[in-house]
Amino acid sequence: MNYQNTLTFARQLDEQDPLKDFRSKFLVPQHEGRDSIYFCGNSLGLQPASAQQYINAQFENWKNLAIEGFFQGDDPWLGYHKKLTKTLSGILGTQADEITVMNSLTVNLHLLMVSFYKPKKKRYKIIMEGGAFPSDQYAMESQARFHGFDPKEAIVEILPRDGEYTLRTEDILQKINEHAGELALVLFGGINYFTGQFFDVRAITEATHQAGAYAGFDLAHAAGNVTLQLHDWGVDFATWCSYKYMNSGPGGISGIFVHEKHFNNKDLNRFAGWWGYREDKRFLMAPGFQPDAGAAGWQVSTSPIMLLTLHKAALDVFEEAGGLAPLRTKADLLTGFLEFVINGVNAKRGEELFKIITPKNKNERGSQLSIVCKRDAKKIFNYLTKNGVIGDWREPNVIRLSPVPLYNTFEQVFEVGRILAAALEEN
Ligand SMILES: Cc1ncc(COP(=O)(O)O)c(C=O)c1O
Repeated sequence: MNYQNTLTFARQLDEQDPLKDFRSKFLVPQHEGRDSIYFCGNSLGLQPASAQQYINAQFENWKNLAIEGFFQGDDPWLGYHKKLTKTLSGILGTQADEITVMNSLTVNLHLLMVSFYKPKKKRYKIIMEGGAFPSDQYAMESQARFHGFDPKEAIVEILPRDGEYTLRTEDILQKINEHAGELALVLFGGINYFTGQFFDVRAITEATHQAGAYAGFDLAHAAGNVTLQLHDWGVDFATWCSYKYMNSGPGGISGIFVHEKHFNNKDLNRFAGWWGYREDKRFLMAPGFQPDAGAAGWQVSTSPIMLLTLHKAALDVFEEAGGLAPLRTKADLLTGFLEFVINGVNAKRGEELFKIITPKNKNERGSQLSIVCKRDAKKIFNYLTKNGVIGDWREPNVIRLSPVPLYNTFEQVFEVGRILAAALEEN
């Protein structure tokens, strides 16, 4: 695309945008009487306008049916999670039974490590990306300790080369290779939360399997954002949250993927609970755990129906949009335009004051751009906020901006460029 840094051009792109009507399906925080420019879908997606109505319908079910709501009504609660798996399997590139919806992300990381981190005396190491989200670090450290290993010994972090911000795939693969004999698990982000780098999930999975270990992914920043083919890539397990690009509410329900090749593997440990028991016999309340078929057999507790309902409201918008593919097409254009306008601000100043550390290659990123502000970083961030741009701040000097295809516009991207330029004038 040959971008132009003009309002007319941005408006033309908005006019041609096949998703332009989807913006009205979301509630946008107001700033001085107008919609703010919300570029923070990487942290918390916006509320679908339909969400309250979906929740109200469940209040009605609860009022009218009470306990019978598990078995009666249009959407009985007992198998409600299955109403989500079709859309999710399209978004994540899986079979429907390889997915279930449950718990929160870090809890699921732990539950999946119970199954897939089975360290032995010699084969006990976990490889992860350096600078992973802290919850992942804490989860892995505590798992290593739980199994009697010193996290400093057991966890190998891969860091960017000196002077670089992101990881090179060749370095990741080499590190996996290097530790092959001692490796139990590679647990990587799909997209790194800080840099926005989208890792080569397929290559990492292949190298991990060659090293004789399991490959798992935290897809918090990838699910609903980038194209994934978890089944075909042979990924062993994954988990994600629904509150970022999937717009399902603060602390919204998480999901898990377990590849079908593991469904009948009796060697995998599980921390079982009755909601993972085979559904047809669950209410016999018999002793001796018999897992439900597929990923549903990893469920533990009664489904939180209100959270599932919010997730359904949000996923129905994805369905209406035609799934992830049309979102991806727009997302590449939006983020490419943001990159173009930021580089335009730099070019005008004759210096790279805003350094984009997210990869330039669109196959190695999603919607997010992470921008190192080389001067007055916090002041510039505050200026954005004061002018109605909601992004987010990461210490010491990084602003993350994520224009999201369902509810952001090209005009907003243009506007952000204008406000960034004005911020430099003022500071
Ligand atoms: C990459 C990543 N992992 C883990 C988490 C923690 O998720 P939760 O608090 O839902 O467990 C987050 C939250 O933003 C995240 O971005």
